[in-house]
Amino acid sequence: MTVSELNRAGRADFTNAVGFAFENSPWIAELAWEKRPFASVDDLHAAMVAVVEQAPQEKRIALIAAHPDLAGRVAREGRLTPASRSEQSSAGLDRLSKEELARLDRLNESYRARFSFPFVICARENTKDSILAELERREQNDRTTEIAAALNEIAKIAHLRLADVIEA
Ligand code: GUN
Repeated sequence: MTVSELNRAGRADFTNAVGFAFENSPWIAELAWEKRPFASVDDLHAAMVAVVEQAPQEKRIALIAAHPDLAGRVAREGRLTPASRSEQSSAGLDRLSKEELARLDRLNESYRARFSFPFVICARENTKDSILAELERREQNDRTTEIAAALNEIAKIAHLRLADVIEA
């Protein structure tokens, strides 16, 4: 699909086409639609990120919380969104040893206990080792810093997802 096709789409078609860029959070596409037309993928992405930035804090936290744990129960039960499955696979998270999986589970749990939302990272820009290292490092952040870090990763994930489906 092209940006000009998106610019001509109604709200529902637009949301169906690009809503997936933000995990389980179609409200971002629904609001960004009001900012059309978009000049490019980057312009659309900026409008979607602006919707997140202008949303109340509780909506931003709900966006983070809409992500499943990396290699967590949702993944093991085969219920990931197609985008999340392919991203987690690109980082090797679908091929962890028993020991690696146990370590990731432990770190995910401890992170979630501290912040009450899941650890989110742009899996396509990382390997299983850098993900484990970032999980340990970011757990030391204060809550405000960590919310910003998670939203920054979510913006990177969304940019890659949009670039996958929209012709330049
Ligand atoms: N990074 C890319 N996709 C995902 C996801 O679905 N969950 C988490 N936690 N991080 C991600």
